[in-house]
Amino acid sequence: MSRKQKLVVLTGAGVSAESGLDTFRDSGGLWGKYDPQVVASIDGWHRNKRLMIDFYNDLRVGLKDKKPNKAHLLIAQLEEKYNVTVITQNVDNLHERAGSTRIIHLHGELTKVRPEVGEYDRTFSEKEVIDIGYGTIDLGDLAPNGSQLRPHIVWFGESVPQIERAIEEVEQADIMLIVGTSLQVYPAAGLYRYADPHIPIYIIDPKDVAICDGRINHIKAVASEGMETFIREIEKN
Ligand code: OAD
Repeated sequence: MSRKQKLVVLTGAGVSAESGLDTFRDSGGLWGKYDPQVVASIDGWHRNKRLMIDFYNDLRVGLKDKKPNKAHLLIAQLEEKYNVTVITQNVDNLHERAGSTRIIHLHGELTKVRPEVGEYDRTFSEKEVIDIGYGTIDLGDLAPNGSQLRPHIVWFGESVPQIERAIEEVEQADIMLIVGTSLQVYPAAGLYRYADPHIPIYIIDPKDVAICDGRINHIKAVASEGMETFIREIEKN
């Protein structure tokens, strides 16, 4: 039996838009309503922990009623024919709920928390991460090591611990697909540059894309329609 081709899918907020989750930088997006320096930076955390805890509690509770959309489901179904790794910037769990089995969360996960001061002081080890589902945390809730619990989210001003794993995946890809990201936030935005120069790269986004690279095939559509087009395209080859 021939080996399955390796498909690496990088997703952003746009893949979850049809599930009713706000993107960040579109009009009406989250960063139009909230200042990311206040609700999504490590400095913001040190200035006002209660505000940040409440902000992520609300997002976490709201996630419970959202459902994966057709794009998440089609990405999961691609595992039947391809060796798929999803690298997502999203902190929702819609790829998991759609059935994808190999997922790297670059920016953390909403349903998880961890100690503010982890085993390695300024950072944490994976075994300190606690799954709280759609529950909430409060100021004063402590991790087993006695430190305040915080959302398991990568904030501005923090490192991205999963980036090395993500780079290794992209380096080995036979096909790369990018869905619903403005490619404004690094290091995620630079990941495609690690792909072998001979592989095809597809981007699904209803808007014009910020990168200009001859090998990129832009499928100008929302995620669900774009996924159908993408699947037709790769099945031709
Ligand atoms: P953005 O809000 O920056 O970009 C969303 C992209 O999705 C845009 O290019 C839209 O055109 C596109 N889009 C909108 N609706 C879509 C749809 N229905 N189908 C497909 N695409 C659609 O979100 P991200 O690029 O994901 O980080 O943002 C990256 C990071 O910035 C986030 O992970 C978050 C944020 O700050 C953290 O919070 C750490």
